[in-house]
Amino acid sequence: MNFVVRARDVHRTYGHGATAVNAVRGVSVSVARGELVAVVGPSGSGKSTLLHLLATLDRPDSGEIWIGDTKVSELDDTGRTQLRRTKIGLVFQFFNLLPLLSARENVALPLFLAGVRLADAEARADELLASVGLAARAEHKPDAMSGGEMQRVAVARALAPRPLVLLADEPTGNLDSASSESVLSLLRSTTQDSGCAVVMVTHDPRAAAVADRVLEFKDGKISGDCAD
Ligand SMILES: Nc1ncnc2c1ncn2[C@@H]1O[C@H](COP(=O)(O)OP(=O)(O)OP(=O)(O)O)[C@@H](O)[C@H]1O
Ligand SMILES: [Mg+2]
Repeated sequence: MNFVVRARDVHRTYGHGATAVNAVRGVSVSVARGELVAVVGPSGSGKSTLLHLLATLDRPDSGEIWIGDTKVSELDDTGRTQLRRTKIGLVFQFFNLLPLLSARENVALPLFLAGVRLADAEARADELLASVGLAARAEHKPDAMSGGEMQRVAVARALAPRPLVLLADEPTGNLDSASSESVLSLLRSTTQDSGCAVVMVTHDPRAAAVADRVLEFKDGKISGDCAD
């Protein structure tokens, strides 16, 4: 099996002593190329903590994480930043677009920072915006777009470097139901068209319904793992 993400017996505790919180307590999971995985569970059960660990934004106290063939614990900070820029796409609840940049510039920026020539980065951005149905919005700044449009720009930006996996924390958490549907169908088609895997933390039952697989979290552990 061609796994793009693997975690083995990962633990993460915040704080020390009496106030320590065991947020993730021995999680092992593998995600295949092109798989769409929904992570569900009660508030505080450790979902976002796991996502941050997989995103290399945080380090586990113990256990191992691989992104593609790369063992994350063997990388220094520069290596992790490089891995995040090239192999991992991140999508958040509140979009995190740069307000002074147009949709095209928001999508092109990470490519430009990675050394792609501006004209090429903008051409790729236009291609990505067209693929998320926003060709007509390329010149718009975030405050001139709807929430659903901003999130589709954020997905286009996350896909720009052709990552192995897109990690999303509550990608529909701030959207109305029509916009949620369009973002979910975009994530679904992304896995089918590009082979990029998607791992999304969600409270949205529609998100769980489109997923190939639902991971249930409880008290820092996976309490259920079912194919949909
Ligand atoms: N930076 C932090 N410092 C200390 N404790 C934290 C920190 N971040 C999270 N926690 C604690 O770790 C546990 C897991 O938090 P996490 O954010 O992973 O939960 P979650 O499943 O994403 O919840 P939600 O559905 O509300 O977003 C919680 O008890 C939380 O209070
Ligand atoms: Mg969370």
